Amino acid sequence: MNQLPFPLAEVPDAASAERGRKLFAGPCDFVKGVVAMSGLPPADRMEVCFAGRSNVGKSSLINALTGRKGLARASNTPGRTQEINFFALADSHYLVDLPGYGFANAPVAVVEKWQRLLKSYLSGRQTLRRAFVLVDTRHGIKPVDEEIMSLLDSAAVTFQCVLTKADKVKDQDRERILTQVRGALSKHPAAFPEIVMTSSEKGDGIATLRALITGLE
Ligand code: GTP
Ligand code: MG
Repeated sequence: MNQLPFPLAEVPDAASAERGRKLFAGPCDFVKGVVAMSGLPPADRMEVCFAGRSNVGKSSLINALTGRKGLARASNTPGRTQEINFFALADSHYLVDLPGYGFANAPVAVVEKWQRLLKSYLSGRQTLRRAFVLVDTRHGIKPVDEEIMSLLDSAAVTFQCVLTKADKVKDQDRERILTQVRGALSKHPAAFPEIVMTSSEKGDGIATLRALITGLE
């Protein structure tokens, strides 16, 4: 049997799920908000980041993963996260909440400044182990996502597509979006060949993502 390219990530086995649960139930603290590459914390541990269009649910996903509602600032206003926010998970990982790309409710000059920073970070951070590129399950992959994915291809940073807000999509619409997403991902050599579908609201995919991050070496 041919396997579909870019299958949905499987539910982790009990031992991996437990390791993931433990890591994410432990300490997780805000370290700093960075506005220039010179402000990045020392590259002394593995790091994963959450990128995606404004309002796709990056901050909410970090809160869901860590089970701490107010850890990353989430909001209805696109462009809420305007710095690169570092969270230390135990002593072993940084979780990095990025400013959104695409539409943002902020002055053009400010947006341009953080978009430049975002691109420098994504292409120049040595310890960035994986970038999670979040895509709204209702909308699929847009040209701005493709642009970021191409940047990650060039920088040889493995990225994994995370579909967000799955709770907002009817079952019959999911397959159509998945087909679009699979088609777009297949053009990107840096795309990790598994998709995770999540709902920060309902908890879908959260244990899977915890286990996946915990399993990175
Ligand atoms: P920026 O920082 O502005 O780029 O946005 P962001 O990607 O961090 O999005 P954020 O987490 O602030 O969420 C944006 C809005 O989407 C908020 O109103 C969230 O409550 C909502 N949201 C996020 N995840 C989910 C989800 O899984 N389901 C539902 N129904 N709403 C969600
Ligand atoms: Mg945010």
